[in-house]
Amino acid sequence: MAGTRAGGPPISHDVADLSLAEEGEARIEWAAGQMPVLAQIRDRFENERPLAGISVAACLHVTAETACLMRALQAGGATAALCSANPLSTQDDVAAALVLADGVEVRARRGESTDEYVEHVLALLEGAPQITLDDGADLLATSHARGGEALERLIGGTEETTTGLVRLRRLQEQGGLRCPVLAVNEARTERALNDRHGTGQSALDGIVRASNVLLAGLTVVILGYGWAGQGVAERARGAGAAVIVCEVDPLRALEARMAGYEVMPALAAAERGDLFITVTGSRRVLRREHFERMRDGVLLANAGHFDVELDLAELDDLAGGNVRAVRPLVSEYRLPDGRRLNLLAHGRVVNLAAAEGHPAAVMDVSFALQALAVEALVRDGGSLGPGVHPVSPEIDREVGRLKLAALGVQIDEPTDEQTQYLSSWGGGSGA
Ligand SMILES: NC(=O)c1ccc[n+]([C@@H]2O[C@H](COP(=O)([O-])OP(=O)(O)OC[C@H]3O[C@@H](n4cnc5c(N)ncnc54)[C@H](O)[C@@H]3O)[C@@H](O)[C@H]2O)c1
Repeated sequence: MAGTRAGGPPISHDVADLSLAEEGEARIEWAAGQMPVLAQIRDRFENERPLAGISVAACLHVTAETACLMRALQAGGATAALCSANPLSTQDDVAAALVLADGVEVRARRGESTDEYVEHVLALLEGAPQITLDDGADLLATSHARGGEALERLIGGTEETTTGLVRLRRLQEQGGLRCPVLAVNEARTERALNDRHGTGQSALDGIVRASNVLLAGLTVVILGYGWAGQGVAERARGAGAAVIVCEVDPLRALEARMAGYEVMPALAAAERGDLFITVTGSRRVLRREHFERMRDGVLLANAGHFDVELDLAELDDLAGGNVRAVRPLVSEYRLPDGRRLNLLAHGRVVNLAAAEGHPAAVMDVSFALQALAVEALVRDGGSLGPGVHPVSPEIDREVGRLKLAALGVQIDEPTDEQTQYLSSWGGGSGA
């Protein structure tokens, strides 16, 4: 389908309703007001045009914050195409605004089917982008699976989430990764803000919006105490819940115990929890044997990237197909003995499917890193070589510095004496 970009050529797109563009614009403006770091990068890009002539394809959540990133990349001179990393996270009004106001080739509709999702990914790759931005590695994995021009023209890609990096590292181990990938997800600034504060707050936000449950007094079971799980656990405790952590990694389990949480196997927790949140990046973390032990009325949510952490086929089988929607994003599975297990947001990533993902102030940091990572790939991609690479410490420090400045926070510089002391091996006690 072709849209009608104001003053420009028609843009090929597949969005739900272009008449929503005005609402989308208001939503983007609101987000932009909370993204001062990305705004500064956009201003510099506008002057320096470091991405002139570069084609960028992004498979990210189609939200107002992502719109701000697309605008920054375009300000740098790139042409941008966007599809959604999750069928339930698309903001249709934002998609419309990006097509009409910015001429971005958007292919995303809230609630799109898996087939439509795949079509959208393939359509973006047909444009043979030079840079990809992924949240779950679907663009890069698909371009590697298909080969051909889409792969040959690639300068490199960036990856926004743990699950995507796991996939790309497997590809690298098998000798198949053909371009450099910058692991935005593992930058220090990203870890500090995105996973802990962003997921921590927004996963609970999604759960509360979907169910209207009071968190205080609940027993919340967090499965997976990684970067994201730690944030969710901390926020749940802060809201007055008793938190149980289930882990498979002894060090992470130890950290959870030392942070004051109860730690136990998932089978034991299944009998205790009121609300279960998976955030592992693995699959079938909660399955039949767990569902069978759960109490009447429990809530089940997933904050991991893919909807495979809860075994929904087994849940459906256990309920004998006796499922009904009791609220827009709550499906009640009634077991033969009358117990009801309530699944939120169809087991999809709950902070995006039932809320708005990370707040804009968090995505400010993530997308500032993304923008600088794209610039670095265009500048240095040739010398990086195929493989997953860290985001450089310079980029990390720059984003940290800009975010602190935006918050009005000043910090000390080490004195010359301290710098010298820390860089020498000679000075022990008293030296
Ligand atoms: N919803 C969001 O906004 C959001 C944000 C960041 C990450 N994620 C996703 O959340 C998942 C976890 O990300 P992360 O950065 O915290 O990863 P991580 O690797 O830091 O943590 C995952 C943890 O889960 C544990 N785990 C694995 N299998 C388990 C099992 N069967 N039972 C209990 N624990 C298990 C691992 O030992 C690990 O400690 C990924 O899918 C990631 O893409 C989502």
